[in-house]
Amino acid sequence: MNLRICAIMALLAGATATCAVAIHAEEAEGRKEVPQTQEGAVGTENFSYICKQKQDKEMQKRSFVLKGNVAFSAADRTLVLHPNSYLVCEEGRCAGVFETLPERYSSLPLTDHGDRIIIPGMTDLHIHAPQFAFRGLGMDRELMEWLENYTYPEESHYADLDYAERAYGLFASHMRRSATTRACVFATVHRRATTLLMDKLEATGLITLVGKVNMDRLSPDFIRETTDGSIAETRLWIEETAKKYERTKPIVTPRFIPTCTPELLTALGKMAADCGLPIQSHLSENLGEIALVREFEPETPTYGHAYDKYGLLGGTDNPCVMAHCVHSSDAELALLKERGVYIAHSPESNMNVSSGIAPIARYLAMGLRVGLASDVAGGSSECMFAAMAHAIQASHLHWRLVDSTQPQLTFADAFFLATRSGGAFFGKVGAFEEGYDFDALVIDDSDTETTRALSLAERLERLPYHASWRNIVEKYVAGAILENRE
Ligand code: GUN
Ligand code: FE
Repeated sequence: MNLRICAIMALLAGATATCAVAIHAEEAEGRKEVPQTQEGAVGTENFSYICKQKQDKEMQKRSFVLKGNVAFSAADRTLVLHPNSYLVCEEGRCAGVFETLPERYSSLPLTDHGDRIIIPGMTDLHIHAPQFAFRGLGMDRELMEWLENYTYPEESHYADLDYAERAYGLFASHMRRSATTRACVFATVHRRATTLLMDKLEATGLITLVGKVNMDRLSPDFIRETTDGSIAETRLWIEETAKKYERTKPIVTPRFIPTCTPELLTALGKMAADCGLPIQSHLSENLGEIALVREFEPETPTYGHAYDKYGLLGGTDNPCVMAHCVHSSDAELALLKERGVYIAHSPESNMNVSSGIAPIARYLAMGLRVGLASDVAGGSSECMFAAMAHAIQASHLHWRLVDSTQPQLTFADAFFLATRSGGAFFGKVGAFEEGYDFDALVIDDSDTETTRALSLAERLERLPYHASWRNIVEKYVAGAILENRE
């Protein structure tokens, strides 16, 4: 390991150690919150440097009040509704929702949004930035053929920084105006283009984790890395980006087991552990893919155990999110639960590339951590409202065609997945409870007029089917308003 890498690892370790001391001090005073089953990423405190906002002066600007129809999910997935109420942001964090504004907040600037709806920002737990260019195209193949025929050729273009500049510029501007406030993003194998994507996402104001993809086998020459090259480029990229941004951080990203040799997977697992970096990949998405993994890893009981063997399911200091888990066995699910792995449910993608239907109601009942994802370009758009609709619809088909003993997902479940449950990967994110980061969307739904007098719950219920970025009047991330989103 070269000296610069050692230095950055020491820096990261230092950040972790400082955090750990702070937590212990809180524990001594009896203030530490008890982690709940459904939320709080593994090691959230230790990896909180990922989500840290600029302190002091800038934070002081981020105190204000919004008035409107406020809604969010409780930890038990029920809807919390506060019609015509005051939502207070204090130094970038939520201070609570109030029917009458407490005197202590009366001097803060207040924006009255009238009849508009205010909900938490959404977390897209899995999206491929380079695939945005062919979203909505090539929906006629199953996963492995889809990768070979459409995805790898498109991703090879990111060796060209001019192409990356244009394509990632488009991606970033769409993400900026979308319902998403946090995201876990795949780039490509190309280090320079990945850093360019991070530059662009940082400028959006969103808080994101971005991964340089690793792949050194079972992929075409034009996109495959050598093992040594992949490891060296990833080290260099982490060194260059881990401390470069306020809102954008690296996440270790082996594409999936079929395209990564054991040597590469071992190195990536070690890098993630040494640097305290989170991990993202794909797991048990498609039957052909699972059969391939069985061939590559005949000794491990499940696909998930293969990642675990290489230290790639994360740990207390570095949480992990796995996309899909459509065909996970009970043994695999038990391991994911033990490791606190997040499942990124991508219902539209699972339909488009003919993967199947993930039994999300069952996963929730088992206490697994699940969030929602667009998985562009398996999914056709970055719209998280649509992802909520697809999650509900897919669960209806699962109930009808696969297992009628599991309940169908309700709007409240889908809203929980898109906000609080996925947001927990980033810490206290996705709800309007005291101490949560102030990520919020102000929504004008007046374009879906009706003769009915709708309750707030009914207006929310329609959002997955009717709302898009066009309905978002204001968007806040950690208390900062994202201006000029058009
Ligand atoms: N598995 C490996 N790579 C990919 C990808 O780009 N998209 C999806 N949906 N699955 C994958
Ligand atoms: Fe994916």
